[in-house]
Amino acid sequence: MNKRNDIWGGNTENRFRIVNEIIRQARTRVGEYPILVKINAYEKSKDGINIEESVRISRCLEQAGCDDIEVSCGIVEEGFVTSRGDCPFDAISRNNFKMEKIPKFFHPLVGFMVKRTMASPEPHFLYNLPHAEEIKKHVSIPVIVVGGIRKLKDIKNIIEQERCDFVSMSRPFIIEPDLVKKFKEGRQNESKCINCNYCLIGAEKHPLKCYAEEYPEKMKKYLKKNI
Ligand SMILES: Cc1cc2nc3c(=O)[nH]c(=O)nc-3n(C[C@H](O)[C@H](O)[C@H](O)COP(=O)(O)O)c2cc1C
Ligand code: SF4
Repeated sequence: MNKRNDIWGGNTENRFRIVNEIIRQARTRVGEYPILVKINAYEKSKDGINIEESVRISRCLEQAGCDDIEVSCGIVEEGFVTSRGDCPFDAISRNNFKMEKIPKFFHPLVGFMVKRTMASPEPHFLYNLPHAEEIKKHVSIPVIVVGGIRKLKDIKNIIEQERCDFVSMSRPFIIEPDLVKKFKEGRQNESKCINCNYCLIGAEKHPLKCYAEEYPEKMKKYLKKNI
C-alpha cells in the first residue's frame, strides 16, 4: 500500500524507515520497558509481504532495538486471513458500516461475493507457526507466534521443542478470559472458541464480547466433539 518513491518508500529499507523512527522515539520515552512489534509474514494480496521480506524486516527490527517479534498474517482488506475460521455474513450485514449503505435487497448477492473473496485460506489452526519458526532462525530476540492456537498440547509442543519462544492467543481470551487458569488447574485442555468470528465483526459496532452462546446449536456440536 505504500506507493511512495522518496526515502520512505520503495525497497524494504526505505519502507522500514518509519518503523525505525517510531521505535527510536518510543525507546526514548519507555527506557528499558520492552517494545514488542507484531508483523506479518504472509499476505494474500498480490505484492503483499512474504516470508523472505518478513525475515529481512525481522532483522531490521532486532537492529532497531525491538525486544520481541510477534508473527501474524493478513490485512483487513483480505478478509478472514488474520483471524481464520468462518466468514459470518449475517453478522457482517448487521454490523458493517459499508453494508448499511447497501440496500437490503442486494445483501444476498453481496453475501455471495463476500463469502467467495473474504473466506479464510487453509489451514485454520497454527497457521503462522511455519513462518514464525523461520523468522526465529534469523534473529536472536524472542519470537511469539499467534493464530489458531487452541490446544494445550500444541502450546507445550511449540515451547518445549523451542519452535517459538512464546505463544499468543486472541479469540480464546474473548470467550474464556480465565483460560490459562483452566489449563494450569487441568480443568480444560482446549479453548472453547469455535472460530465463528462474530466477535471480530461485532466489535465494529458494539463492545467486544463472545457471541457463541447466541448460537447454541453450533456450540453444542463443537462441545460434543471436543470437550
Ligand atoms: C476483535 C478482534 C480485534 C482484533 N484487532 C486486531 C488489531 O487491531 N491488530 C492486529 O494486528 N490484530 C488484530 N486482531 C487479530 C488477533 O490479534 C490475532 O492475531 C488473530 O485473531 C489470530 O489469533 P487467534 O486465532 O488466537 O484469535 C483482532 C482480533 C479480534 C478477534
Ligand atoms: S465469538 Fe466467541 S466463539 Fe466466536 S470466534 Fe469470537 S471468541 Fe470465538
